[in-house]
Amino acid sequence: MAFFITFEGIEGCGKSTQVELLSRMLEEMGRPVLVTREPGGCPIADKIRAILLDADNRALAPLAELLLYAAARAQHVTEVIRPALDAGKIVVCDRFTDATLAYQGYGRSLDAVLIRTLNGLAADGISPDMTVLLDCPAEVGLKRALARIENTEGAREERFEQESLRFHRAVRQGYLSLAADDPGRFLVVDGTLDIRETASIISTAVLSRLSQG
Ligand code: TMP
Repeated sequence: MAFFITFEGIEGCGKSTQVELLSRMLEEMGRPVLVTREPGGCPIADKIRAILLDADNRALAPLAELLLYAAARAQHVTEVIRPALDAGKIVVCDRFTDATLAYQGYGRSLDAVLIRTLNGLAADGISPDMTVLLDCPAEVGLKRALARIENTEGAREERFEQESLRFHRAVRQGYLSLAADDPGRFLVVDGTLDIRETASIISTAVLSRLSQG
């Protein structure tokens, strides 16, 4: 049965680890799973990702940034997400349309109606069945994200980590209000808990939703 799960949260909230743990568990259960991420998830969208996250691109205008996220998403949905859902897979995606509302809307103060319109176009009507929000204070997330960047070789994807604490606090509040508006879809989990404990809360909730069809 096709099912679309997205993971959201601020930088350093631990979502990539949880995406991996959940998808491994589903695979071990013999479920057909496709793991992907935004921005990116396919070669053309990965090229757009490189532009978006390049720390040298500080001059990127907020509207240009929004349109690039939409372009990357349109390509990713067409090439990866829709075909996987049509094939009956469980798609686990690290960030999706809520990230645009949280970062470009609450973070950059771009118009929410415009963002929702672009999200609808780019996602071609696809919306998540379930969204896991890993919530943690901006100070905690940024500390973890900066430590990870220091330990990473190759291209440094740090444009957003360089944003102010105020920006990340606004993004966090944005996510929490999106979750409050749609409690049936969101599962909000404390991102400061132990990794295994968090994984167990998420897998229990996902299996329960999957069994409800
Ligand atoms: P990642 O670090 O989780 O891979 O995400 C890359 C960055 O892109 C992260 O700082 C959040 C940001 N982002 C947006 O600002 N808007 C979006 O629509 C998406 C998908 C990501």
